[in-house]
Amino acid sequence: MLELRGVSKFFDGLPAVKQLDFAVRHGEIVGIIGPNGAGKTTMIGLISGSLPLSSGQIRYRGLDISRLPPHRRAYLGIARTFQVTQPFKGLSVRENVMIGALFGRRGLKQAAAREAADAVLERVGLAAKAHFRADQLTVADRKRLELARALALEPELLLLDEVMAGLTPTEMEQAIALIRAIHASGVTVLVIEHVMQAIMGLSQRIMVLHQGTKIAEGPPEQVLADQRVIEAYLGERYAREQQSRLGAARPVPQKEGKEEQG
Ligand SMILES: Nc1ncnc2c1ncn2[C@@H]1O[C@H](COP(=O)(O)OP(=O)(O)O)[C@@H](O)[C@H]1O
Ligand SMILES: [Mg+2]
Repeated sequence: MLELRGVSKFFDGLPAVKQLDFAVRHGEIVGIIGPNGAGKTTMIGLISGSLPLSSGQIRYRGLDISRLPPHRRAYLGIARTFQVTQPFKGLSVRENVMIGALFGRRGLKQAAAREAADAVLERVGLAAKAHFRADQLTVADRKRLELARALALEPELLLLDEVMAGLTPTEMEQAIALIRAIHASGVTVLVIEHVMQAIMGLSQRIMVLHQGTKIAEGPPEQVLADQRVIEAYLGERYAREQQSRLGAARPVPQKEGKEEQG
């Protein structure tokens, strides 16, 4: 469904994403992890079109979308959330979501956008606050609004950038359930998250970015046992904790120098 081929992005000559090859199949839910500054948010920007590529190519459903502006990619079914939530602060929650619907769906009438917005607000648990101004929302509700705005596009591919950051454990459980339901409804999902328990539980496959480069990719338990991932991101103790949480029966393989993961 989505394919990045040799994708790079430089900021002032410094690489944020370097020669990245990465693909997502229709119907997958894939996690992306990596330390701060690894290039995760940049990658989302490159896929959604908010950032132009420096080099490489991005294909979506066989189409080269590398040079398409964000709204054209949205028409094709690609929606994203922003790590730093960016609502139109003076507008109501409902209006914010309507804008999402209108942005992503060519020719949608205002009444239909309103209907779509209300349906999505119901789904994310914000219906009672539809009339609130966006800047009156709590952190958790702002995250819900981000998700609602993206969902209003009726995406085929949903890119989630740390939608669980700052949530309480209960709110996080609700978010996980919601993401599962979205995925179960047929949406392909790419999820960036630092909360290991959440991402390991959600993802069928995980890709690890470090300094703009993919250092590992595979099923959660394999990535957790990857020595490079442990060194670059997880740390020994944390990796073991997560492994026992996953109930991995396999022992942690120590440095095997498996190159096929890189
Ligand atoms: N708009 C920008 N201008 C300049 N540098 C940027 C910009 N966005 C990101 N960067 C840099 O690119 C690198 C990757 O950042 P980012 O994609 O935000 O990482 P992550 O989301 O994995 O924490 C960092 O070094 C960051 O400082
Ligand atoms: Mg980020």
